[in-house]
Amino acid sequence: MASKEIINADISKEVVSRNDFPPNFVFGVATSAYQVEGASKEGGRGDSIWDVFSHIEGKIIDKSNGDIAVDQYHLYKEDVSLMAKLGFRAYRFSVSWSRIFPDGLGTKINEEGITYYNNLINALLDNGMQPYITLYHWDLPHNLHESMGGWLTEKIVKYFAIYAETCFASFGDRVKHWITINEPLQTAINGYGAGIFAPGRSENSSIEPYLAAHYQLLAHAAAVSVYKKKFKAQQGGEIGLVVDCEWAEAFSDKMEDKDAAARRLEFQLGWFLDPIYYGDYPEVMRERLGDRLPKFSDEDKELLRNSVDFVGLNHYTSRLIAHATTSPEPNDFYQAQQMERIGKTFSTYIAASEWLYIVPWGIRKVINYIAQRYHNPPIYVTENGMDDEEDATALLHEVLDDKKRVGYFKGYLAAVAQSIKDGVDVRGYFAWSFVDNFEWCQGYTKRFGLVYVDYKNGLSRHPKSSAIWFSRFLKGDEGKSIKED
Ligand code: NOJ
Repeated sequence: MASKEIINADISKEVVSRNDFPPNFVFGVATSAYQVEGASKEGGRGDSIWDVFSHIEGKIIDKSNGDIAVDQYHLYKEDVSLMAKLGFRAYRFSVSWSRIFPDGLGTKINEEGITYYNNLINALLDNGMQPYITLYHWDLPHNLHESMGGWLTEKIVKYFAIYAETCFASFGDRVKHWITINEPLQTAINGYGAGIFAPGRSENSSIEPYLAAHYQLLAHAAAVSVYKKKFKAQQGGEIGLVVDCEWAEAFSDKMEDKDAAARRLEFQLGWFLDPIYYGDYPEVMRERLGDRLPKFSDEDKELLRNSVDFVGLNHYTSRLIAHATTSPEPNDFYQAQQMERIGKTFSTYIAASEWLYIVPWGIRKVINYIAQRYHNPPIYVTENGMDDEEDATALLHEVLDDKKRVGYFKGYLAAVAQSIKDGVDVRGYFAWSFVDNFEWCQGYTKRFGLVYVDYKNGLSRHPKSSAIWFSRFLKGDEGKSIKED
């Protein structure tokens, strides 16, 4: 177990500078379509599962939805110019599938959707920024869920491949960085296990999460295969998958706790990356889940193998992991892991989300774990950040002074720089998020933005101290070289 001093290290004392990263290292900001775009009924867009889910009473804590969100659909030019002004050179955003194919079926392209993303991409390039496109960030066309079961059916693989191909063909002349799917783990366990994310299923939680994960993996592989066969050589881009992982630190030196922590990592990362690098789910999952875990055919294995040019990692937090014969968390997924996730005694620093303990060194451990287990692949940190609680009574200058977030970024960036020194091939870092936005079932009660959005005054944008800190950091005006270990 890591010592208490390390766990509670004062994050605000971290020193990090742009020079701790290679010159070609990419710094960007990230968002996703449903969380920022709004214009849910404009431009020929069809409903996604989140449009339907967020309008069901009781699903979103503040009864809100993404109908308007922060209106990036109309404000994209201002947003892009602000990102560029702050010094970022990349924007990771997602395409709303139902803006391209309103019913998901892939029969008729909605040209207005294509035009919107063309405009956004062109605005980025004009401002010296590179687009990093996520094809799927949780907003499945509702019709694909309603008419055939969405991620629970093999049919989805074909529809995702058609959609992906349309995006490569329409945008790939200018877009060189593609992500197929964002955090398939969260869709599987929260969308089909706990039911707290769209489509809100929990009826069959010992089976469906594993099916949803399986078909997301196969859809990823099918899209990559299309890219490699038809576009990659000519367009010269790269394509990967984004996984999420909280670091799992063993609670004690006891073997059973160490084993539990190792299992915890395999159930998060191994679930998605083992099939890609080793052709099958981790043995510990196969043993524990038996027939609940779907099987890959030889053809599936072939398609999946080496189906990424890079690994995208979303990382926010860490946990101490202790062995527990019965997990305190009810879901099948947690029971099968036989462990307990301990947050409270771990770090005294916590963000607004109750799951987000601030443990900067955890990111170095996850990155190094990926490097070690999967032969040092190129890695992008595709999301990292923390949230503040919405406080309707606070004054603007107070909410803009986000010192804690500055400390968070300093700490986590210093740890990423350490991974690079450790020899890991980390190529980029994307802060989550560019602006405050719709935080899924938490609605607008949580603010992850570098830039504050005034929901009461025309959705006006106001850079927080963390945005200003980042801008100085990117110019090389912030910090000096970090000390050696
Ligand atoms: C990961 C998700 O990709 C993103 O959509 C979400 O807002 C952040 N985590 C923060 O919870």
